[in-house]
Amino acid sequence: MFITLEGGEGAGKTTQIVHLAGWLAERGITCTRTREPGGTLLGRAIRAVLLDPENAGMAPATELLLYMADRSEHIRQVITPALAAGRTVLCDRFFDATVVYQGFARGLASDWILRLHELVFAGMTPDLTLLLDLPAEVGLARARRQLEKGDRPTAESRFEDEALAFHQRVREGYLQLARQAPERFRVIDAARDESRVKEDIRSVVEVRLRRL
Ligand code: TMP
Repeated sequence: MFITLEGGEGAGKTTQIVHLAGWLAERGITCTRTREPGGTLLGRAIRAVLLDPENAGMAPATELLLYMADRSEHIRQVITPALAAGRTVLCDRFFDATVVYQGFARGLASDWILRLHELVFAGMTPDLTLLLDLPAEVGLARARRQLEKGDRPTAESRFEDEALAFHQRVREGYLQLARQAPERFRVIDAARDESRVKEDIRSVVEVRLRRL
């Protein structure tokens, strides 16, 4: 099973993916926990370029192609082999992030991004996508606090530096995708306590596991 976690800045995806991997492991389900950008060695170099605030002026098309390059390596080196070996893949962001950030938020045409994805990565669609949703200002404040506390490197702050309006478009974009594909998406209210969010995620995944 291929599960992705999506959401805006400060939604708590990284914490929740660790909880979910631990819970699945207790049930004897072996997981590969990974993320985009940066799920491979080459991907980590691409991540550094993409998130570096020094690269604030990057053209939207350059940004899109770098995320696609990261994904190309990630699918080939990590996702496809793990799924082929019967493992569950838990991925912190995937293709929906591209549609939302480079499409809805940056303004590149979504149909163009979808076509590119189909051309390069035909059929790579998650079985389940957990959207950790919360108001953009709440998430952004959390993410900026993490940067101040040093929990996240300032060398990775290019998106946190974007205006609130950008992050509001990200939130709206994700909610729109969730409405368009209700069978794949589950929207989780991520403004609540970590433990409540964790419980919700478990119930959603439990229901999905029963269906397998
Ligand atoms: P994260 O590791 O904190 O989720 O940071 C990755 C950043 O990259 C985040 O701001 C969202 C952004 N992003 C895109 O703009 N497009 C993409 O396709 C992906 C995977 C991430």
